[in-house]
Amino acid sequence: MKWYKKTAIVLLVALVGIQFIPTARNQSDVVPATDFMMVNEVPKPINDKLQASCYDCHSNNTRYPWYSSIQPGAWFMEMHINNGKEELNFNEWGKYSNRKKTSKLKSIISQIRDDEMPIMSYRLIHKDAIFSEDEKKTVIEWVTKLKESL
Ligand code: HEC
Repeated sequence: MKWYKKTAIVLLVALVGIQFIPTARNQSDVVPATDFMMVNEVPKPINDKLQASCYDCHSNNTRYPWYSSIQPGAWFMEMHINNGKEELNFNEWGKYSNRKKTSKLKSIISQIRDDEMPIMSYRLIHKDAIFSEDEKKTVIEWVTKLKESL
């Protein structure tokens, strides 16, 4: 057998093999009383935008697309969700101290302003997560007001 055929077979077996490795699912039906949207009075357009753009990685509930069941995609998602939630979990907003809230709001503003969040690979797939210039302006203005009110 030619070397490239062997290589192809090995790769194929590996690709099938990794499908059986389980990943944790980040899913919950409960919206806790500590959720950002429960603690604050958030205007609907801003609520909708943050839910669509940020909640998949920064809350306890991810809307999983079909391809997230396929490896290695599921690993990447799991990694992003774990790291994202560690930095910021909108579901646990009410538990944060005022100091932590202020610093997170500052960070949210700069992440959105500089197109750092949602992360690039996510924006490629989730077109509804992209911020238009208008949306950026509206969300940043509102978050700034919230920060100043703390
Ligand atoms: C695909 C997953 C994903 C999405 C969607 C996402 N984030 Fe993140 N976010 C991460 C990860 C991973 C980190 C931690 C590593 C990093 O900073 O890149 C993070 C970190 C952060 C941080 C902390 C950064 C710091 O250095 O202080 C903030 C604030 C943040 N995200 C805000 C947002 C906001 C606001 C949105 C929506 C507009 C959003 N993220 C959407 C994955 C995501």
